[in-house]
Amino acid sequence: MLTIQNLTKAFGANKAVDNVSLHFDRPMMIGVIGASGAGKSTLLRMLNRLETETSGTITFEGREISALKGGDKRRWQADCAMIFQQFNLVPRMDVVSNVLHGTLNRRSTIATMFNLYPQADIHRAIDILDRLGIAAHAAKRAEALSGGQQQRVAIARAVMQNPKIVLADEPIASLDPMNAQIVMDDLRRIHDEDGRMVIANLHTLDTARRYCDRVIGMRAGRVVFDGTPAQLTTGVARDIYGADASFSEAATSTSIDTLDRPTQAKRAERA
Ligand SMILES: Nc1ncnc2c1ncn2[C@@H]1O[C@H](COP(=O)(O)OP(=O)(O)O)[C@@H](O)[C@H]1O
Ligand SMILES: [Mg+2]
Repeated sequence: MLTIQNLTKAFGANKAVDNVSLHFDRPMMIGVIGASGAGKSTLLRMLNRLETETSGTITFEGREISALKGGDKRRWQADCAMIFQQFNLVPRMDVVSNVLHGTLNRRSTIATMFNLYPQADIHRAIDILDRLGIAAHAAKRAEALSGGQQQRVAIARAVMQNPKIVLADEPIASLDPMNAQIVMDDLRRIHDEDGRMVIANLHTLDTARRYCDRVIGMRAGRVVFDGTPAQLTTGVARDIYGADASFSEAATSTSIDTLDRPTQAKRAERA
């Protein structure tokens, strides 16, 4: 399905991503972990062509992504929606309009200029917000929402694109443990219920262990671990993070594990 071959990105003499090869044969939920500077963001940015590789190839469903240009490149970018640590919403715009921005790749410039959205798209946006438990905030400005709610709007915007892959770059790094859990639960649902591939850069080990089917560990641009959460032992983690004997899991933990997993009813109540 998705194959990355000998992918390298160099910034001057610094190889941010260094000869990475990975293969995914079905849409899994994948966590990429590693210390700051390991190359996680650069890898994700090359996948959706925000960044161009120095060498190597990315192939998705038989098509070489790195070769796409113009309209084909834009369609690919719509196929792999991106979610960022800082949400990247338009703060003064209402929530529904932010979600509708997820259809931008398909709309004419004139329609965009005048904020003209088909009725069907508006209904769909509200359905998606409802599914994520935040429809009650649809008419509010994005900036009026809490961080956790804003990240759920960003997820709704991504889903609105109907993407094949959702790329999330440290989606919970700015959130408190409770909101971090809600956002990770939502990403997991998008995988489980819609069958989308989710690739999330995560700075915490426990989150990757708990939510992902497969974990990729990066260190200094290279893949140093590729396996299941069960294979991700403390010894392996120490190797990924490059820490010495004083390495402690607590240092890379969000303490999501200490919270109860919320029921749907509780989630709706909180929204
Ligand atoms: N646009 C850029 N220009 C120069 N160096 C960069 C750029 N983006 C990333 N780097 C460097 O590439 C390396 C990997 O960065 P990054 O992919 O952001 O790592 P991570 O997301 O794991 O923290 C770092 O050394 C970083 O300084
Ligand atoms: Mg990063």
